[in-house]
Amino acid sequence: MIYEKIISRRTIRKYKPKPVSKEILIKCVDAARLSPSGANLQPLKYIIVNDEQLLKDVFSATRWAGYLPEYGPSEEEMPRAYIAILLDKTIRQTPGHDVGIAAMSISMVAYDEGLGSCILGAIDRTRLREILKVPEHLDISLLVALGYPAESPVIDEARKGDIKYWLDEEGILHVPKRPLEEVLRWNTYE
Ligand SMILES: Cc1cc2nc3c(=O)[nH]c(=O)nc-3n(C[C@H](O)[C@H](O)[C@H](O)COP(=O)(O)O)c2cc1C
Repeated sequence: MIYEKIISRRTIRKYKPKPVSKEILIKCVDAARLSPSGANLQPLKYIIVNDEQLLKDVFSATRWAGYLPEYGPSEEEMPRAYIAILLDKTIRQTPGHDVGIAAMSISMVAYDEGLGSCILGAIDRTRLREILKVPEHLDISLLVALGYPAESPVIDEARKGDIKYWLDEEGILHVPKRPLEEVLRWNTYE
């Protein structure tokens, strides 16, 4: 069950113009809050963005689909919510691995609720700090964009190490994944 969910989740970059309920957004943050944390320090804070004007402002500070820059969402297809993941440097100076785990928890709960998501690392952190009024003791680690999916990407097997996602003639996004035999070893590496 959870395996099926994890392998079928795809990054979604185009969204329907339908709002996301507060309950689902809170559930996503709650799942992140209860996720594993190194030394149980729990140094992360979260901002949910769902205000109409702020959604537009945040959108202008994001970058999409590095391998296919033309493919990013139009303003009509933009995310209908964001969750910003912040590192509280008064608790821990570096994020360790907590941020990625939190982002995945948010993405999986969103997916389970019928939403699509995109973890965003290519963000203008200086502008976002101003837009979201984030104080200096918090680093903006990642954003998770959320909304109801308006695309259905598929996975392919990566051939000869080519991992760049690509679009077919029908406009379907293909996401190459490295084969299991390339990434898995048993007991020792060689
Ligand atoms: C840490 C991290 C940062 C990412 N940053 C961006 C980003 O800035 N823009 C974007 O369009 N996608 C971003 N992605 C999404 C990846 O491109 C995507 O996960 C990858 O192509 C694999 O697709 P899949 O999630 O459908 O398996 C990011 C993913 C991760 C894990």
